[in-house]
Amino acid sequence: MSNTATLEVNGEKYEFPIVTGTENEVAIDIKKLRGVTGGVTTIDPGYKNTGSCTSSITFLDGEKGILRYGGYSIEELAEKADFLEVAFLLIFGELPTKEELDKFYSDIKKNSIVDEDVKKILDAFPKAAHPMGVLSSLTSALTAFNPDAVDVNSEEDMYNSVVRILGKFPVLVAWAMRKKSGLPLDYGDKNLGYVENILKMMFKVPNEEYTQNKVLVEALDKLLILHADHEQNCSTSTVRIVGSSHAGLFASISAGISALWGPLHGGANQAVLEMLEAIKEDGGDTKKYMAKAKDKSDPFRLMGFGHRVYKNFDPRAKIIKVAADEVLGDLGVEDPVLEIAKGLEKEALEDQYFVDRKLYPNVDFYSGIIYRAMGIPTEMFTVMFALGRLPGWIAQWREMRLNKEPIGRPRQLYTGPTERAFKPIEDR
Ligand code: ACO
Repeated sequence: MSNTATLEVNGEKYEFPIVTGTENEVAIDIKKLRGVTGGVTTIDPGYKNTGSCTSSITFLDGEKGILRYGGYSIEELAEKADFLEVAFLLIFGELPTKEELDKFYSDIKKNSIVDEDVKKILDAFPKAAHPMGVLSSLTSALTAFNPDAVDVNSEEDMYNSVVRILGKFPVLVAWAMRKKSGLPLDYGDKNLGYVENILKMMFKVPNEEYTQNKVLVEALDKLLILHADHEQNCSTSTVRIVGSSHAGLFASISAGISALWGPLHGGANQAVLEMLEAIKEDGGDTKKYMAKAKDKSDPFRLMGFGHRVYKNFDPRAKIIKVAADEVLGDLGVEDPVLEIAKGLEKEALEDQYFVDRKLYPNVDFYSGIIYRAMGIPTEMFTVMFALGRLPGWIAQWREMRLNKEPIGRPRQLYTGPTERAFKPIEDR
């Protein structure tokens, strides 16, 4: 293959380098496009064809259904690694040794206290507030308590900001849930593992010992690993673009949480469960909802189906589907919505509309069913996604800063009025 691409604009030919990634992905490097053409830009709404950066964190092949963090397959990591090891891998590029992991966790624990005054901010939220809004606000508020003007040339500064957010974020997640359920706030127990501590912080009630349930610990660990990174998705791109202005890590993550909240992104896990519930309440007629999803005059979409990148299957959905069966079996939970979900999946996979558009279940289709079996309220599902995605956001923010990427500032093609004279108000 030639290593340049030729573009012809108004009879003039321009050459642009072709760059290749380690997995042989090919991209045309148009960094000099505007300069050499005298201002020509590209238009690509939704960035469907635009690479915003080079990255060595996560590889995904949507056609083949491959997802790898640092070269390791998601299937192997979900089976053999724990969440904190995966977080280390994503952020620092290699799986940790035992010593590195122990130090990492010990530093995270040292940074897990959230200023008591943050509780006053939490108090001011109405109980009905959505926990994603609460989480995004509290994460942003943490900037005031932990000014994190990070010197990217200082490895220590970078490391400190990473362990600080990994320490405090689960506390905020648990507080957002406890606020909703009216439970007193808690700082957890530093003698526990990262995921065990999260569960205890979320579920411990004041007048009872909290007993760890191995099934829940393993299920949550797996879910967090599966959500930990997904290269340049909407929330991650948000984190990178906010951070590109040299905003701090907490501020960038807070913006990522807001991006994740939308129902077309992380908010889909809540939307899936609500959809399955609605189908159940409506008599379980999946065919009716399939018809609605295909009807272009109906805004209804089959939530948890389709993905911008996966046009084969979402490998995370495969793992989660098996996990949902196991967790519900182990916990002895019989959930009719699991049957509705399986029925819908079967129908959609055989339906020409879904086949033609390559629409498959995504990571969110079955995750809510597991969260529900674990006793997590529906409104908290997207918060759990944020908890899992945190290491990915951190890794991508860190990479962007270390690569000294320029501030993110896309171009546009202006289609508004051309210059015109101002009309005084009485003449309009
Ligand atoms: N139900 C019904 N039709 C769908 C669905 C769906 N879930 N998803 C896509 N389509 C149809 C579209 O109507 C469109 O049809 P057309 O070509 O006849 O106009 C076609 O499939 C392509 O869809 P787009 O919206 O153009 O695809 P895009 O890549 O922009 O969107 C997205 C991907 C947002 C995930 C979409 O599939 C969707 O809305 N899914 C439901 C929400 C969801 O589950 N989001 C979670 C994604 S995973 C994540 O963020 C963690």
